[in-house]
Amino acid sequence: MVMLDIINLRTHFPSPDGLVKAVDAVDLQIEKRERLGLIGETGCGKTVLGMSIIRLLQPSTRVQGRIIYNGRDLLELNEKEMRLLRGKEIAMILQNPTTSLNPVLKVGDQIAEVLQLHMGLDKREAKAKAVQMLAATMIPEASKRADQYPHELSGGMKERVMIAMGLAGQPSFVIADEPTKGLDVGTKSEIVRLIRDMTTDRSMLMITHDLAAAGEICDRIAVMYAGELLEEASAKTILSDPQHPYTQGFIQSLPSRGLQPIPGSSPSLIDPPQGCRFHPRCPKAMEICKKEHPPMIKLDNGHFARCFLCA
Ligand SMILES: Nc1ncnc2c1ncn2[C@@H]1O[C@H](COP(=O)(O)OP(=O)(O)OP(=O)(O)O)[C@@H](O)[C@H]1O
Ligand SMILES: [Mg+2]
Repeated sequence: MVMLDIINLRTHFPSPDGLVKAVDAVDLQIEKRERLGLIGETGCGKTVLGMSIIRLLQPSTRVQGRIIYNGRDLLELNEKEMRLLRGKEIAMILQNPTTSLNPVLKVGDQIAEVLQLHMGLDKREAKAKAVQMLAATMIPEASKRADQYPHELSGGMKERVMIAMGLAGQPSFVIADEPTKGLDVGTKSEIVRLIRDMTTDRSMLMITHDLAAAGEICDRIAVMYAGELLEEASAKTILSDPQHPYTQGFIQSLPSRGLQPIPGSSPSLIDPPQGCRFHPRCPKAMEICKKEHPPMIKLDNGHFARCFLCA
């Protein structure tokens, strides 16, 4: 059963230099209890895609298309209806704990706020439950930590607080934005395990640069480049048999595979290259790639690639 159906989503920001097309004609489906990884290099539009779903973008943003969540188009809900869903049905674990947590509120109180708002608990119940949520994230000495301020916690602990806060309202759909960023190797693998265990009966969009983490947690992976999706398949297939030259390059650029960066830099989102957006950097580019925009081509079982080489 499809839980989230994104149809032809375009999220564009007006700017003095023109429209920044951060998300451009994205189609994406996430099934109930499916965990989908979204990967791609910095600035390609991953966070903007997540923010478009939960509708946390400034009012001047132009969002077009449809985002059907359990049969309702989120883009047609008013702010009040959206507020009822946010945190309770759909929650986002934001990209940067240091700037996302409120520096002047104890972390336990920040989690308790979500619980009061979405679970209808009174203050005392919410505080007790917040400590339980923190303990569930395996934070050491949860009740002591709940009484501390964000700056008193390590990076890994702050990430645990973000996870506890994101999951406090028992959302069915979670968007996790770079939950392992900036953590040391040991902490990273603990957080990966934690996210995997805490999302087994939920749907998730996990935004990450960390393909190994995506491989461990996610059922499927979608690859984004310059505002659009270039490839989509099961996590196993993306890791072992990527078909798009960009995905192949992205995998080669990982530290575990030798850190071979893709030559060239990300294209402009205001005026992306004609034809295939990746063609100026593609080692296998053909004449047609400069002229025509490739469609998503269906390969075998649920594998799609936006590349003429696959036609
Ligand atoms: N509010 C905004 N106004 C104008 N442009 C924006 C805004 N937010 C994001 N952008 C632009 O949209 C593009 C996509 O940004 P986004 O944050 O989604 O990238 P990302 O893929 O999440 O990158 P990273 O991996 O570094 O987090 C970037 O070029 C960014 O500068
Ligand atoms: Mg981001």
